[in-house]
Amino acid sequence: MAKDRLIIFDTTLRDGEQSPGASMTRDEKVRIAKMLEKMGVDVIEAGFAIASVGDFESVKAVAEAVRGSTICSLARTGAEDIDRAAEALRPAESGRIHTFIATSPIHMEYKLRMAPDNVVERAVAAVKHARNLIGDVEFSCEDASRSEYDFLCRIIEQVIDAGARTINLPDTVGYGEPGEYGAMVARLMNSIPNADKAIFSVHCHNDLGLAVANSLSAVMHGARQVECTINGLGERAGNASLEELVMAVRTRADIFPVEVSVDATQIVPTSRLVSSITGFPVQPNKAIVGANAFAHESGIHQDGVLKHRETYEIMRAEDVGWNANKLVLGKHSGRAAFKARLGELGITLDNQAALNLAFTRFKELADKKHEIFDEDLQALMSEVQPAERELRYSFAGLEAISRTGSKPHANIELVIDGETQQASADGDGPVDAAFKAVESLVSSGANLQLYSVNAITSGTDSQGEVQVRLEKNGTIVNGNGADTDIIVASVKAYLDALNLLEAGVLKAHPQRGV
Ligand code: KIV
Ligand code: ZN
Repeated sequence: MAKDRLIIFDTTLRDGEQSPGASMTRDEKVRIAKMLEKMGVDVIEAGFAIASVGDFESVKAVAEAVRGSTICSLARTGAEDIDRAAEALRPAESGRIHTFIATSPIHMEYKLRMAPDNVVERAVAAVKHARNLIGDVEFSCEDASRSEYDFLCRIIEQVIDAGARTINLPDTVGYGEPGEYGAMVARLMNSIPNADKAIFSVHCHNDLGLAVANSLSAVMHGARQVECTINGLGERAGNASLEELVMAVRTRADIFPVEVSVDATQIVPTSRLVSSITGFPVQPNKAIVGANAFAHESGIHQDGVLKHRETYEIMRAEDVGWNANKLVLGKHSGRAAFKARLGELGITLDNQAALNLAFTRFKELADKKHEIFDEDLQALMSEVQPAERELRYSFAGLEAISRTGSKPHANIELVIDGETQQASADGDGPVDAAFKAVESLVSSGANLQLYSVNAITSGTDSQGEVQVRLEKNGTIVNGNGADTDIIVASVKAYLDALNLLEAGVLKAHPQRGV
């Protein structure tokens, strides 16, 4: 018997970005969206268009760049929100407006300060307004898992009549339990008279570590869309993780009555890209995408796997994109090969100047490092693409001295507002000395919240990829830098974060207000 299709709705760029510190620039969002498109994700929630000019521009840029997936923007129920979402989605081949309002007694009384009747009225008006602008409208009952059953039936029936074609039932605070949550979905689908006119969707948060279990229970009970994020990124403890949902449905095809049309080999590369852009490392024992997910340490396991792989392996590492670390280019590769490989990675450079800059950086890297992998190119592009922003600070040079028994010291050269400046400082280590030298020139007043270094590929000639998270007056930004010299990578990441702070991105949070 043919199985139903499970719609994969990725919200890495919207709910994922609500993780404190996980902000992404427009170009970074486009790169992630292109990877999601390549993976075959059905719906990409690209942002919350009214939140800020940057969010609006990001949704628009993703809508322009992606063709294979439906692009969605979140909107509260106000007409202004919905109009802004529709405007951002105009370039999309297939666009969706996702409007929502809270339906639980606690949210209606204390957050919205609205009577249930007004909430229904607002929801219906929002869906009708959205349907006048776009054919595909999703409605979410925020905090559905703590909402009253009869109220859910009432509002859902009316928004379906108003034209909503997807009904999402978020477990907003991660309170649900699999049996209870699945039963809620089945009961609603069975008792709402026009339920057959909509697809029921779930959106689970991971506060109790149950987001994936709750989503899968809902799928067993009739949900046909799951909202999820790469690496389980998202507000607080995160959302259900895309890779776990996809691989659970695939691996237990004997149990789940659905199939997904996702190219799972894109999972690991996409996970890496999201991690490197957001600065959220993936824990080594994370299912599917953690570095140890397919590593067998114990002798008994290794012996078993060598004799017959399936003794201890339920999935194949290569099926989710491990070892897809292809040697792509080297010192002698030409501009055409370079451009073609970028294209395969979903990176398009819209002008000749950007391509020239990227190619020059690539040649510089190829001089230092024999083999250039896809991950190296991704890191290189993180550095080249921000050139579209006004950059106040840029790196010019560095000398770091670290000798056993003496205080580490750094001399740095930066270009600040077009003028070359130099500074020196001592520190507890060479990175600390370099950051102190930078601060002696910029006096940013920012607090360093996170500093992390990872090797992009294997081997001691790998580039070091550094993430620096800075906070200033409540604004949190992540800077990235990559270089074969990790002190240089660190300073580049620090300057990237300072430039982002200068850009001063302030945005509204969707779950505040209506
Ligand atoms: O968690 C939630 O309720 C949400 C909605 C806006 C869908 O993110
Ligand atoms: Zn959410």
